[in-house]
Amino acid sequence: MAKKLRVGIIGAGNIATSAHLPAYQKLTDLVEVVAIADIVPDRAKAAAEKYNIPAYFASVEELMANVDVDYIDICTWTAAHAPVCIAAAKAGKNILCEKPLAATLEQGLAMEKAVKEAGVQFMLAVVTRYGAQQYKFRELYEQGVFGEIYAAKCQYVRRRGTPGGWFTDKELAGGGPVLDIGVHAIDRTWYLMDRPKPISCSAETSYRIGNYQTKGVGRWCPFGEGKGVFDTEDSATVFFRFEGGKTMMAEIAWAINGPEIAGTQLFGSKAGCTFDPLTIYGEDEEGYLSTVKPEVEGNDYFAEEIRHFIECVNENKTPISPIDDAVTVQRMLDAIYRSAEAHAEVTI
Ligand SMILES: NC(=O)c1ccc[n+]([C@@H]2O[C@H](COP(=O)([O-])OP(=O)(O)OC[C@H]3O[C@@H](n4cnc5c(N)ncnc54)[C@H](O)[C@@H]3O)[C@@H](O)[C@H]2O)c1
Repeated sequence: MAKKLRVGIIGAGNIATSAHLPAYQKLTDLVEVVAIADIVPDRAKAAAEKYNIPAYFASVEELMANVDVDYIDICTWTAAHAPVCIAAAKAGKNILCEKPLAATLEQGLAMEKAVKEAGVQFMLAVVTRYGAQQYKFRELYEQGVFGEIYAAKCQYVRRRGTPGGWFTDKELAGGGPVLDIGVHAIDRTWYLMDRPKPISCSAETSYRIGNYQTKGVGRWCPFGEGKGVFDTEDSATVFFRFEGGKTMMAEIAWAINGPEIAGTQLFGSKAGCTFDPLTIYGEDEEGYLSTVKPEVEGNDYFAEEIRHFIECVNENKTPISPIDDAVTVQRMLDAIYRSAEAHAEVTI
């Protein structure tokens, strides 16, 4: 019987209270939320009261000094991922960290160093690797159904979807939609391509309409306000080259005057696919074109990613989204900004 783990959550904001804590409620056989911390202690207190968490604190240090935990679940704004992760690693705690890895590549590399020196488990919570369709794709890919995936396209494009609060404050967020939602599309697509080695990136970012006053549209509202500035990009167009002549195109926007679109297209030597629903484009045994939609039952991917992390801690297994992948994807995201600044292709 696996050990029931004890987790301390850092950051009692929107993602903690709307996604992680409801997921923990489904996993009570595997894990107990024993404490929560936020630099705004009233937020930690409110979450503790709502979710029956026995203790709340104002920092990761205070939490670790008072409560014994097996791992720290980082749900702070992005610029705080690195200091919280480094403190947790130095205390020998395993770490589950919300996406993106960090606000800058430098911070991400410092996290990698701390995690590796401490020899603790680290998993980046890139939730779309943990969807049932992605699992089904991996199963079919392992069976050779797709052959070699040599090209891919991904999009995470919102018509009007700039988040509020700190998300547009570069100091706290590190960047705009590239780090916020581009990370989901690029991370998932690169992983499903079987993690080809990145060689170069050509990208442009833009800041035109993200600070819209459009009526009748909703937005993600974090609890943390930031300074109320908007000094990030609002969209990006990206082309990556990988070893072996493989490529990925990505379109990312918080706001654009065009249709909403989110997805990944994978092109393999034997077959290709799109998602939502998983649809496989190939040829049948008689040589005719075939389009197949396997029946895939949906899953709660936040609960699944946490369940997977607990399994990795208990069995000392490398997670599906380990620190090495997180750093490679952060290098790719960093290359987008470098290329946009140079208006030229850059090496990764
Ligand atoms: N997986 C997803 O789909 C998804 C969706 C939204 C947000 N996120 C990620 O979740 C994280 C949090 O986003 P959010 O929308 O919940 O923001 P939020 O502002 O609602 O919550 C962040 C909380 O962290 C607290 N905080 C900041 N620094 C801290 C520190 N050093 N110690 C303790 N608490 C600290 C803030 O006071 C705030 O309450 C971000 O990294 C974001 O990218 C992921």
